Amino acid sequence: MATAWKKSDWRNKERIQMPVYTDPDALTAVEAKLGNFPPLVFAGEVRRLKAHLADVSRGEAFLLQGGDCAESFDEFSADLIRDTYKVMLQMAVVLTFGAKVPVVKIGRMAGQFAKPRSAPTEVVNGVELPSYRGDIINDIAFTEAARVPDPTRMLQAYTQAAASLNLLRAFSQGGFADIARVHSWTLESTKDAPGYEKYHDLASRISESLEFMDAAGVNSSTTAALHRVDFYTSHEALLLEYEEALCRIDSTSGLPVAGSGHMIWIGDRTRQPDGAHVEFARGVQNPVGLKCGPSLDPEELVRLCDLLNPDNEAGRLTLIARFGAGNVGEHLPRLIKAVEREGKNVVWSCDPMHGNTIKSDSGYKTRPFERVLREVREFFAIHKAEGTIPGGVHFEMTGKDVTECTGGLRAVADEDLSDRYHTACDPRLNASQSLELAFLVAEELHQRRVSQRAVG
Ligand code: PEP
Ligand code: CO
Repeated sequence: MATAWKKSDWRNKERIQMPVYTDPDALTAVEAKLGNFPPLVFAGEVRRLKAHLADVSRGEAFLLQGGDCAESFDEFSADLIRDTYKVMLQMAVVLTFGAKVPVVKIGRMAGQFAKPRSAPTEVVNGVELPSYRGDIINDIAFTEAARVPDPTRMLQAYTQAAASLNLLRAFSQGGFADIARVHSWTLESTKDAPGYEKYHDLASRISESLEFMDAAGVNSSTTAALHRVDFYTSHEALLLEYEEALCRIDSTSGLPVAGSGHMIWIGDRTRQPDGAHVEFARGVQNPVGLKCGPSLDPEELVRLCDLLNPDNEAGRLTLIARFGAGNVGEHLPRLIKAVEREGKNVVWSCDPMHGNTIKSDSGYKTRPFERVLREVREFFAIHKAEGTIPGGVHFEMTGKDVTECTGGLRAVADEDLSDRYHTACDPRLNASQSLELAFLVAEELHQRRVSQRAVG
């Protein structure tokens, strides 16, 4: 139980997907430094997010989680953060309109630096080197020296996360996130864009609602909720030396909190019930995500729910399903049935990215937009059949006009992939694909409401 738990207990468990640092003194020095730095998030915020996620688990809010596959040290700028943030806000307005419930916004931002890999080494032109594991661990350049894990990178990751979070907080509270302003971007980007007529109509209906509220005296000068947003951060808690060093005791509850971000998640490759990652996550108070891929069996999921959420607290555990289009029907129903049978409180979210990565004819790792959409639709259909709540979506996306995923209305073709393929890891939806997906998910949410009303 949490009271007996210590933040270093994970060290007694099997560690996988983590680097072996060759200079233990350098590692200890970094850990000591980080241990003295202030946490990036504060326990009150973490509790607040948990309460919002509890609303999601009851169908009273919807979760939008999105951002980079891997944040990078080189590609770090205010513009980049602003653009991704901006698209997420636009998506959130569209989703709010579809769902008619608040949208909880969580970025894969300000800490998403460590990556699990499918193989420990990679071979390029006959040369084999250790895999790139994210900027917090080693460098993406394909040289022997670059791939050596360097603990001082944790300090740079901390600094970048702190600066990113500072900007995100300023955007969220300082007027940038004003609903009228956010919506005007959406109106503008759907106006006169071929194929966007339907979405422009929906955007116009949102405008009308805002005008109506304004006429009734509800606008951003009278109502703070229209002027500011809550925006939270999340990342995969993979590099446990970093997580341990930033773990703090919440002075209000006396309980441990991961200070590295508001929500942390456990990846599909590191969710062994007896492994180091589950051991760390089970002891902190933050909302925790658990990636659920095809190899997860229902009994193991129940065991993980018991370990990660022993008090069955609503909002504590988000199950992030990532099976791949065409595979959801085979895997999701048995997991949902087990969770329902055991009466576990969870948020179900859909990650339609990680089961849909393919190699294109031109040799790029990509994700076809139509597969991403198909997985989301399957997720909604199965929750409808099971009578459970499709609580949210989890995307890898960026606000930039990259060409990494194929398809969408402003179609990216296989031969376009080389134009602006910038990701440090997995292919991301670009700004226009992200917004299009939000419109399509909003339609699903709208249908769900209509059919519920018909039943109720
Ligand atoms: C990720 O979210 O970037 C990731 C690696 O996901 P998964 O653990 O589901 O493969
Ligand atoms: Co990824």
